[in-house]
Amino acid sequence: MTQDELKQQVAQAALKHVVEDKVVGVGSGSTVNFFIDALAGIKGRIEGAVAASEASAERLKKHGIRVFDLNGVSELPVYVDGADEITEHLHMVKGGGGALTREKIIAAVAAKFVCICDASKLVPVLGKFPLPVEVIPMARSYVGREMLRRKSQPVLREGFKTDNGNLILDCHGLTILDPPALEAELNNIPGVVTNGLFARRGADILLLGEPAGVRAIPVKR
Ligand code: 5RP
Repeated sequence: MTQDELKQQVAQAALKHVVEDKVVGVGSGSTVNFFIDALAGIKGRIEGAVAASEASAERLKKHGIRVFDLNGVSELPVYVDGADEITEHLHMVKGGGGALTREKIIAAVAAKFVCICDASKLVPVLGKFPLPVEVIPMARSYVGREMLRRKSQPVLREGFKTDNGNLILDCHGLTILDPPALEAELNNIPGVVTNGLFARRGADILLLGEPAGVRAIPVKR
């Protein structure tokens, strides 16, 4: 099975978590694109979606799925999104596509976070994938120095601006043994908008695409 087939398989499996006649939260990335395409098949059974990126919103609209502003949505039973890395505790590194801030906001609102990944994303320890940190442009150098103090090598994502008009530092070389603690610590650096650790609000269930099929891994509480 190709990686795309694994992604397609989990995207399809996520449909059964979508709640009928409600708004569904939709993340961003290539796995989510397969989910959006699958969602088109049941669009008559949902009220619409909120999207974590302009790209996802465009794709939803092309399929004729109504896209709501999050501020106008009072109830969001489910959020479906991918990850760049995920552990068995369902802590994640996200933001490879740069949509981490909006993803984190929608994840916070949602009652249930369904993470969809191919098998390559499951790791024992987070950090091999460089941790994306969204920063206010004037804080770029300062936050970079703060990351260096934490033994990480920040690399500015060249030619990239987030949907919020900010910059991304991809922070290499971290071995993240306590994701909730590091998430909180990095959030406290002035100028950091969001960091790509999703641990304090991790996923509730992981749908992992493996050659043998989709494995559902619920969070251990
Ligand atoms: C974007 C994200 C994506 O969920 C993450 O990058 C995974 O993307 P893909 O499904 O393309 O591997 O966090 O900001």
